[in-house]
Amino acid sequence: TAVDQVIRHKAAFNVGAAVTRNELNSASYANTLKTHYSQITAEYEMKMAHIWNGVNNYNWTNADALVKFAEDNDMEVHGHTLVWYKSFPNWFKNANYDSASFEGHVKTYIETVVGRYKGKIISWDVANEIFLDNGGLRSTDCPVFKTFKDPVAFYGRCYRYAREADPEAKLFYNDYNVVLAGGKRGAMRSMATRFKSEGYPLDGIGDQMHYMETTNRNTIKNGLADMALTGLLIHISELDIRINTGQSDNFVYSTTEQQKHANAYKEIVEAYEAIPQSQKFAISTWGLHDGSTWLTDWWHPKEYPLLFDDKFEKKLTYEGFLNGLK
Ligand code: G3I
Repeated sequence: TAVDQVIRHKAAFNVGAAVTRNELNSASYANTLKTHYSQITAEYEMKMAHIWNGVNNYNWTNADALVKFAEDNDMEVHGHTLVWYKSFPNWFKNANYDSASFEGHVKTYIETVVGRYKGKIISWDVANEIFLDNGGLRSTDCPVFKTFKDPVAFYGRCYRYAREADPEAKLFYNDYNVVLAGGKRGAMRSMATRFKSEGYPLDGIGDQMHYMETTNRNTIKNGLADMALTGLLIHISELDIRINTGQSDNFVYSTTEQQKHANAYKEIVEAYEAIPQSQKFAISTWGLHDGSTWLTDWWHPKEYPLLFDDKFEKKLTYEGFLNGLK
C-alpha cells in the first residue's frame, strides 16, 4: 500500500497504540502493530503494580519484552506511568510509610525504572490523573494526597527524579476529560505555570480522550487549542471512541454507524492537526483492535472503539483517522 495510505507513514507525528506483552505472541497482532503504528504504550506492564514487587524487587520481564519488540521494529516506546494513585502496589500501601520514607522509595523506583530504559523509552507519563474534573486534587484512594501536605510539590520532585535519571526523555502529565473539564484543565495549566516558576521539569501534557461518537468535536478542538497555549507538547494518549453510546444490548454496528464513527475519528485527528506542528507528539489509541479493549468490561461487550476489528481487518475508522491527517 502506498505510504500515504498507512497512518504511521502519513502522520507527521507518532501514531501509537496501547499493547500488552501477551498479545505480541500473535503474529497477526504483531504484524498489524508494526505495519501501522510507530509507537507503543504498555497498557499495564510498565506500571508500579506490575513492576514493583517489593523494596529492590522489580519484575522487568514484560516491560523488557515490549521495549525489545519496539527496538526490533523501529518503534518508539512511551512510558506509562510512573506515579498513579491506582497503581501503588498493596505491599507499598500497607507499609504506611511516613512522607520521607514514601518519597525515598518512590524516588528510588523512578530512578531505577527510568534509568533502566534510559535512551530506550523516549517519554514518560510521570504523573497520571492527579486532578478531579472540578480542578481539585484527587484525594480518595490517593496515597500521595494522604501522605503529603503539598502533593503537587511531591509530584514536581518526581519529575525532577525522572529528568535526572534520563535527561533526554520527554516528561508528560497525563489525565482524562482534559478538553471537557475546564476546572481540570485550569488546574493543569496552573500546575504547568507553577512547575515552570519553581523549576520542576515538564515537557508535555496528555489528554487520554476516552470519548464517545457524540462527544462535541468543537469542544475537543477548542480544548486542544487551549492546552496548546501552554506551549507544551500535546499527546492524545489513550484515544478510543465509543459508538454504542447508549450501552445497548441490541446495538448493531451498521454501515451508517461505522461512517459516523469514521467521521468522529477524522474530526479528532483534524483537531489535533490544527495545533502548532512543533507541539505535536503522538496520537495513541488505547488498544489495537476491537477484540481487545478495556471498554468491553468498563462500558459494554457490544463496543467497537478502535481502528481494527477483531480479525485485524482495517475498519472505516482507520480511513477516518487517515483522512484526518494532513
Ligand atoms: O494479566 C494479569 C493476570 O496475569 C493477573 O493474574 C491479574 C490479577 O491481578 O491481573 C492481570 O492484569 C490486569 C491487566 O489489566 C490485564 O488485564 C490487571 O489486574 C488490571 O488492573 C489491568 O487493568 C488495566 C488498568 O489500566 C489498570 O492498570 C487495564 O488493562 C488498562 O486498560 C487500564 O488503562 C488505564 C490507563 O492506564 C489510565 N487511563 C485509564 C485507562 C483505562 O482504565
